[in-house]
Amino acid sequence: MAETTGSTDPANPTTDSISPPDSKINHAASLDYWNGVPATSNAMLAMLGNYPWYTRIDLRGSKTFLNKIRRMISGATTEGKLKSAVDCGAGVGRVTEGFLSHVCEVVDAVEPVEKFTAVLQASPLKASGAVGNVYVMGIEEWVPEKKYDLIWTQFCVGHVTDVQLGTYLVRCRKALVETGVIVFKENISTDPNGWDMYDEEDSSVTRTDGKFRALFKEAGLNVIASELQLGFPKNFKLLPVRFYALRPKS
Ligand SMILES: C[S@@+](CC[C@H](N)C(=O)[O-])C[C@H]1O[C@@H](n2cnc3c(N)ncnc32)[C@H](O)[C@@H]1O
Repeated sequence: MAETTGSTDPANPTTDSISPPDSKINHAASLDYWNGVPATSNAMLAMLGNYPWYTRIDLRGSKTFLNKIRRMISGATTEGKLKSAVDCGAGVGRVTEGFLSHVCEVVDAVEPVEKFTAVLQASPLKASGAVGNVYVMGIEEWVPEKKYDLIWTQFCVGHVTDVQLGTYLVRCRKALVETGVIVFKENISTDPNGWDMYDEEDSSVTRTDGKFRALFKEAGLNVIASELQLGFPKNFKLLPVRFYALRPKS
């Protein structure tokens, strides 16, 4: 699935050595790739390898993880819906439609591909007010205009460099309400040498767990919980998917 080129020193994952994988990221190439994916109701499945069962397992796992986090955060109510969330790298709104809109009153979205955001804009969720602002831009450009209970970032950070990801995390940290939480749900590198992996097909990087944790720390965030998404059939040899729940360091 992902090709490994370039290197990052595994012992010091934020220190780039020669030609680090994220230096190969080309935003124009990523957007070309995603613009070539049909923006139909099946688009999310196409993005996820056309496995219809994938999205069911994925969304159920997300709901269970968020419930755990809500129980952990002192002062946060576990009853009822959260007030506001944002779905970052939202695509056509698979996560918003299948999960976030069930647990949050209003869900904003950040997504750079206009034909995907057009699907969200035209959805009944937008008409009902369950989808709020839709920002047509990459996460590297997005500057939050309000505070959120939940900033959900899934399967998209591979499209930004380590530096861009670091500054995005700092902006997200500052955009949380007092009991707010950032959740990352991302593929994890399986490179045998512990390197991030560059994938030429969509010009993205799959990071190691160590790299993610170093970036979270640098951005002033604590990992309050982290676990693997379970339940994907092993014979498909998919990359591991890991959740991280992040709160500002006190
Ligand atoms: C694998 S899809 C995931 C979509 C959605 N998060 C989901 O899980 O169904 C990756 C998404 O990242 C978007 N993307 C590409 N570059 C991005 C960037 N710089 N910032 C945010 N999202 C980006 C793509 O357009 C695409 O919608």
